[in-house]
Amino acid sequence: MTGGAGYIGSHAAKALRQAGYRVVVYDNLAAGHRGAAKFGELVQGDVTDVAAVRAALRAHEVTAVMHFAALLDVGESVREPARYYRNNVTGALGVLEAMAAESVEYFVFSSTCATYGEPIETPIAETHPQQPINSYGETKLAVERALPHFERAYGIHSMSLRYFNAAGADPDGEIGEDHSPEIHVIPRASRRRPADAACRCSATTTRRPTARVSATTST
Ligand SMILES: NC(=O)c1ccc[n+]([C@@H]2O[C@H](COP(=O)([O-])OP(=O)(O)OC[C@H]3O[C@@H](n4cnc5c(N)ncnc54)[C@H](O)[C@@H]3O)[C@@H](O)[C@H]2O)c1
Repeated sequence: MTGGAGYIGSHAAKALRQAGYRVVVYDNLAAGHRGAAKFGELVQGDVTDVAAVRAALRAHEVTAVMHFAALLDVGESVREPARYYRNNVTGALGVLEAMAAESVEYFVFSSTCATYGEPIETPIAETHPQQPINSYGETKLAVERALPHFERAYGIHSMSLRYFNAAGADPDGEIGEDHSPEIHVIPRASRRRPADAACRCSATTTRRPTARVSATTST
């Protein structure tokens, strides 16, 4: 599991381990936490390092990869697209290249609702057109678009999860969301600090409740 020391990855790692799977966490700890990577062996490395990813796949006889490692701050992605393309696109392609070389056939990709862009209709169905409006969404869509080619050429079967802002924590209280800075709307709103000008929420109930949030981003 790449990014298994991060928020969603650590919860997924815990769930997998509880389901009886052996988990290996591959993470550079740039944003993740060593303490959250406790549901499998931690291999510290970067996903852009194809040789290191190959070595980890081989050493641990990996049969499937869940890819959570990414940068995910929408605003930052607009200011620093080069970093986002390198980390999110080159990184994911590096993992896929390593998988092809080591004959690992299953890939679950942590994509994002940001691949949809401005909604044409809501609720957003899976079939909604994908027209990202920022480089974060573009990097994720670029990887999604590469996946069928890796299936055709190397037999790597994949699926992409396009979720919206994840929220909440492990019911056992062992792990939780620990981003710094916190960019996500739900944890920011739940801090209930009205003085926090970066997180002003209001609700409209025209056709169904809609939360409008200013100066936050959806990943
Ligand atoms: N948090 C959300 O609400 C949300 C919503 C939609 C999609 N996503 C996607 O889910 C994934 C996980 O999100 P999260 O909230 O858990 O983020 P997170 O920052 O908590 O976790 C990401 C992990 O990836 C690691 N990482 C980043 N770049 C790496 C690299 N080059 N090499 C190795 N490890 C690297 C970080 O150290 C961190 O542990 C991301 O791909 C994100 O785009 C998140």
